[in-house]
Amino acid sequence: MKVGVIMGGVSSEREVSLMTGKEMIAHLDKSRYEVYPIEIHDKRELISKTEGIDIALLALHGTFGEDGTVQGTLDTLGIPYTGSGVLASSLCMDKDLSKKLLRYEGLHTADWIMVGCLEELAAADVEGLGFPVVVKPNAGGSSIGTRIVRNSADLASAVEEALRWDRSVMIEQWIEGEEITCPVLNGDMLPIVSIKPNSEFFDYASKYEEGEADEQVIELPAELQEQVRTAALQCYKAMKCSVYARIDIILKGTIPYILEVNTLPGLTKTSLLPRSAEAAGYSFSGLLDALIETSLS
Ligand code: DAL
Ligand code: MG
Repeated sequence: MKVGVIMGGVSSEREVSLMTGKEMIAHLDKSRYEVYPIEIHDKRELISKTEGIDIALLALHGTFGEDGTVQGTLDTLGIPYTGSGVLASSLCMDKDLSKKLLRYEGLHTADWIMVGCLEELAAADVEGLGFPVVVKPNAGGSSIGTRIVRNSADLASAVEEALRWDRSVMIEQWIEGEEITCPVLNGDMLPIVSIKPNSEFFDYASKYEEGEADEQVIELPAELQEQVRTAALQCYKAMKCSVYARIDIILKGTIPYILEVNTLPGLTKTSLLPRSAEAAGYSFSGLLDALIETSLS
């Protein structure tokens, strides 16, 4: 089977995507697959470079990759690909819409405000959320352009920074609690990973530099574990995800506050999903086999 590993792309997470792609290429079982590394620099390359492959193993992150556009193109070309389809991909990429749906589902997520410019910020009731707040691009990833803001004096510069990455900026209430992530594969939750970054929050450096965060596979007390599993699976289903995803959560006491759903979670050396999958008995190669098999079934 010819597996094209699609990586790079044009989003702010291009470098992360190249790291994911590199790990995938290293771990794909060469006795089962003919592996074709496909690095995308320009959107138009997707069409010419994917010709002849049997499946696209998506190592892309962020816009044009994780947001449904690549999925739609591959659907049109009749090329199967790993992970969620168009709708779930684009929905999960939009943090604002995702949170609206989570609220509709009765799931917990922090309060938030959206702004598109500094004039809108001036009119927004950020004090009503209470400080600190998290300011982030609506369709960002890997915490690029994201800041914690502790007082109103620092808000405008944080919003300006986030506006460099997206036209729409989310100002979200900071939930004090334990950060955990819940990967889902084949319709069930894999082991939970607890995240304790060395820095103020789980920023780009703590995500991708070794030793910058303490990440441990954990088993919560039985009742809480089940509560988190139920919330993660409800969220996965509500967003219409398929094959796999990673749901980021802040656990405040026994309440899981959902931060977001990643439909193409990072599979870099320091990423969380491979660690969780390993605890569930999947080697990295076995995880890739599972992604390919499930996506083709
Ligand atoms: N957005 C990055 C790649 C992640 O969720 O792992
Ligand atoms: Mg993300």
